[in-house]
Amino acid sequence: MSVEKIMVIGAGQMGSGIAQVCAMAGYSVYLQDLKQEFVDRGLGIINKNLSRQVEKGRMAADEKEAILARISSSTDINNASEVDLVIEAAVENMEIKSKIFAELDKIAPAHAILATNTSSLPITEIAASTNRPEKVIGMHFMNPVPVMKLVEIIRGLATADEVYSTIEEITKKLDKVPVEVNDFPGFVSNRILMPMINEAIYTLYEGVASVEAIDEVMKLGMNHPMGPLTLADFIGLDTCLYIMETLHEGFGDDKYRPCPLLRKYVKAGWLGRKSGRGFYTYA
Ligand code: CAA
Repeated sequence: MSVEKIMVIGAGQMGSGIAQVCAMAGYSVYLQDLKQEFVDRGLGIINKNLSRQVEKGRMAADEKEAILARISSSTDINNASEVDLVIEAAVENMEIKSKIFAELDKIAPAHAILATNTSSLPITEIAASTNRPEKVIGMHFMNPVPVMKLVEIIRGLATADEVYSTIEEITKKLDKVPVEVNDFPGFVSNRILMPMINEAIYTLYEGVASVEAIDEVMKLGMNHPMGPLTLADFIGLDTCLYIMETLHEGFGDDKYRPCPLLRKYVKAGWLGRKSGRGFYTYA
């Protein structure tokens, strides 16, 4: 199936990154969010990322302008009537995602694929809110999207083989590496990553070592680019808690219980980098 025009829903950190890589690969993109100020903030992030490439001499200034020209702002979801693929990167909330997908199902052309960048919610359940479950698929990008090579491609129970192949092809065109996984809580990435982060928080909670020491052990001892507590701040502590809760509820296994310290930080509004304070403080 041929895909030329894409809508990305959600102009936050993930959505803007996805819109950027799609436009860089030559696709026309609608960057959709509820308010113009959210879209403008997303476009600002993209502009900054591309300007850095130009400053480093890796991209010509007119190429940057051509990429930006392929991205249109949108605050009207009805623009989905013009696209072949929607990639949803709105908030991690089942009720909101189901509502968006039910709406998209009515607006998007019959041939359009509806993908979600959910980090742990069941694709099959999201698909069930549409009348085209065979065209619903998970496309899980990693943060920061322009840098990270992986895209987990998650098949829902009803996802058609043709839809899977189209998304695999597009992912390669975005210069990313697709990895196929099945629809279970946390897929592969967060089923492994989040319990590690949660355990790092328990290690802090139980007084085994300081924040800095825990991160240093994992950075220098395991060659991780960021320590787990730095990474938790980077991802967002609310997102980490939400994913742990999804794993805990989805498997019904207490080995996935979120650390009480993680809950406490989230309740305090210490969400990591985005709120200026998490395990570290940020200017
Ligand atoms: N957006 C775009 N580009 C970025 C960026 C951002 N937010 N942050 C860094 N970069 C680019 C830099 O411009 C730089 O590019 P060049 O090499 O081309 O100059 C490159 O990335 C390296 O950046 P830095 O030298 O500043 O810093 P670094 O070497 O420490 O790398 C990092 C930064 C790539 C983020 C690295 O620390 C890293 O890989 N961290 C781990 C990230 C990770 O694990 N992500 C997955 C999170 S889990 C997830 O996303 C899934 C989920 O569902 C929760």
